[in-house]
Amino acid sequence: MKSLRESDPEIFGLIQKEIERESEDLVMIASENYASRAVLEAQGSVLTNKYAEGYPNARYYGGCEYVDLVEELAIERLKGLFGSEYCNVQPHSGSQANMAIYLAFLKPGDPIMGMSLSHGGHLSHGSPVNFSGRYFKAIGYTVNRETGLLDYDQIRELALRYRPKIIVAGASAYPRVIDFKAFKEIADECGAYFMADIAHIAGLIITGHHPSPVGLADFVTSTTHKTLRGPRGGFILAKGEYGEAINKAIFPGLQGGPLMHVIAAKAVAFKEAGMPEFRAYQEQVVKNSQTLARELMDLGFKLVSGGTDNHLILVDLSDKGITGKEAEYALGKAGIVVNKNAIPFDKRGPQITSGIRIGTPAATTRGLKESEMKTVAHWIAQVLEHPWEEELLLRVRGELRELLSGFPIYGDKKA
Ligand SMILES: Cc1ncc(COP(=O)(O)O)c(C=O)c1O
Repeated sequence: MKSLRESDPEIFGLIQKEIERESEDLVMIASENYASRAVLEAQGSVLTNKYAEGYPNARYYGGCEYVDLVEELAIERLKGLFGSEYCNVQPHSGSQANMAIYLAFLKPGDPIMGMSLSHGGHLSHGSPVNFSGRYFKAIGYTVNRETGLLDYDQIRELALRYRPKIIVAGASAYPRVIDFKAFKEIADECGAYFMADIAHIAGLIITGHHPSPVGLADFVTSTTHKTLRGPRGGFILAKGEYGEAINKAIFPGLQGGPLMHVIAAKAVAFKEAGMPEFRAYQEQVVKNSQTLARELMDLGFKLVSGGTDNHLILVDLSDKGITGKEAEYALGKAGIVVNKNAIPFDKRGPQITSGIRIGTPAATTRGLKESEMKTVAHWIAQVLEHPWEEELLLRVRGELRELLSGFPIYGDKKA
């Protein structure tokens, strides 16, 4: 059989370009990371050929003796990381993990409550443009206007007024610790299920850098590719009693055959997440984000909630004369990749926004530490103060590339 280079030079070439981009630019998208070579290898393996509908030792296909062992290892490792009674490693993504919980425990039209998308929640927590907002009656809670923090009194008040069947805690753009105990108390008081979506903070939870919802929440859903640094995908943890219903919701409820190559790569990432180096990594992720936050504030930038406890910061640009969209563009030209992001109570729409979200998981995987974060903060400030000065953007890009050449990712440029 031919190699990719021989059989499809166009795709091969584009992958080479992406390798260059990921290595020459500074990735500061809070939801991205660099998976290890071992994870990439498992995901690029022949397991991609195998159909395995069902679960280990209960499949609808023959020839599953090895993939059964792969899935069992993934399950065992994941349960060990979180101390969970039950887990499912088959969700193809974080959204599908959430969908499975709704499918298993709700009926169409039931009320659900989650953080509003415009305040940092995720589409799958009840946004009207998502299945979760179309098939369920969604109630959105917000952060406090003054503090930028979750307002547990407001959440409780809304929960008691609307009596949701499920309360979702978790966010895509919230820089502070989430009080899962407070959510559990509110859910108990109004008789709702409690689901924690830890997609962003899973890695931090494993190493104790964020409190865990396991043992408090009825269901915990997650992605595997953000702070956890695995392949793209999802998983679900739950109390043992819910296992059967969740298994049925994933297959045959929502998905067909599991992606066994991805499950193998998840197993590899779970093994890596149990290593002492992973703890040191998460520690550094937080140190980097806090250093960046402090430095940017010293340089006159306003951060939502005034700082960060985790891997991301939200910069409020509303008094800087630049939109989130313009900031994303200018920083991109300078080689710093971030995303425009709504800030709480944003006056601009989601395509423009008044903020940017900056995360440190990928940069920390490259080996950048506090001193580099200080330099990066100065570059960000220069770019945002002079976003239309092409020469300045190119100068920053040059200096950044020189810095990053000392922090290789995969060592070489082969696909
Ligand atoms: C909190 C949260 N939940 C769920 C998801 C969905 O994950 P996926 O993109 O894998 O569907 C995301 C993705 O950004 C997220 O931030």
